[in-house]
Amino acid sequence: MNDERKLCLSGKGLTKVFGLGRQKTVAVDHVDFAFHEGEIISIVGESGSGKTTLAKMLLGLIGETEGEVYFQGVKRDIGSQKKKQNYWKQIQAIFQDPFSSYNIFHKIDEVLLDCIRMRGGGKLPHAKKVEMMTEACSFVNLKFEELTNKYPFELSGGQQQRLMIARIFLLKPKILLADEPTSMIDACSRATILDFLMQLRDEIGMTLIFITHDIGLAYYVSDTVYIMEKGKFVESGSADEVILNPQQPYTRRLLNDVPKIHEEWDLSTV
Ligand SMILES: Nc1ncnc2c1ncn2[C@@H]1O[C@H](COP(=O)(O)OP(=O)(O)OP(=O)(O)O)[C@@H](O)[C@H]1O
Ligand SMILES: [Mg+2]
Repeated sequence: MNDERKLCLSGKGLTKVFGLGRQKTVAVDHVDFAFHEGEIISIVGESGSGKTTLAKMLLGLIGETEGEVYFQGVKRDIGSQKKKQNYWKQIQAIFQDPFSSYNIFHKIDEVLLDCIRMRGGGKLPHAKKVEMMTEACSFVNLKFEELTNKYPFELSGGQQQRLMIARIFLLKPKILLADEPTSMIDACSRATILDFLMQLRDEIGMTLIFITHDIGLAYYVSDTVYIMEKGKFVESGSADEVILNPQQPYTRRLLNDVPKIHEEWDLSTV
C-alpha cells in the first residue's frame, strides 16, 4: 500500500458519549482512522464495543460529542437537511435487519424509483427507469417483473437482503457501510451477499466498510482491519498484519474464537 491512495473518509478524535453523570457511557472514545477509495475495511469488536455507534456517526444519523469527520479530505458539513441529503448520495448503509431500511408503506417499485431519483434520474422516461430497475434486480438474481406492485415485507429474508443490494446498485455510493449484513441469514446466502458486495465494489470502485464481530470474516474480505475495544481502536493495519501477527491481547482473544484462521478459507463454511 502506498500514500497515493485517495482519502475517502477519515476521522480525528471522534467521540460519542451517551447520557450524563453516573449514567454516562463513552460508546466511542477518540478514534482516528483513514479510509481510502476502493479500500475494503473491517471494524471488528465484541458486542457493545461501539461499532454501530461509530457507524451512525459516520452516516450522520447521530451527532458526535467530540472530534471531526472528513469526507475526501474536507471537514464534513451536514448542518442542513439539504447538505445531509447530498452526503447520503455518497455514503449508504445496509443494516443487520434489512427490514428496517425500508419504508413499509412503499412498494418495491417506489423503493427503487427513489434511488433513481436520488441519483438525479427523476425525469428519465419511464421505460428507461424500468430498464434500470430490471438491471439492478437481475444483478442480485431477482426478477423485477415478479416484484413490481409488491411490498418489501412480502419478500423472504434473503430476497429482502438482495433487494437492499439492488438499491445500492442503483445508488452507486462512494462508500458502503455494512453493519453485519450477514448475521441473520444462512451460510449460503451469506456467501452470496458477500459475493455481490465484492462484485459491486469492483464495478463501481466504492469503499466498503464491514462492521462485524467476526474476525474470520474480516480476514477473508478486507484490506485493512481496525480492532475496536470499549470504544477505542486498539490495533489497526493490513488484514495480514493484524490477524496473522496480532499485538494486542484483545485481538488474540478474538482470534481464539476462530481456531482455523490460518487454514485456507473454505467458503462453504462461512
Ligand atoms: N442511544 C443510546 N443511548 C445510550 N447508550 C447507548 C445508545 N446506543 C448505544 N449505547 C451504548 O453504547 C455502547 C456501544 O453500543 P454499540 O451499539 O455501538 O455496540 P456494538 O459494538 O455495535 O455492539 P453489537 O456488536 O452488539 O452490535 C453500549 O454500551 C451501548 O449500551
Ligand atoms: Mg452493533
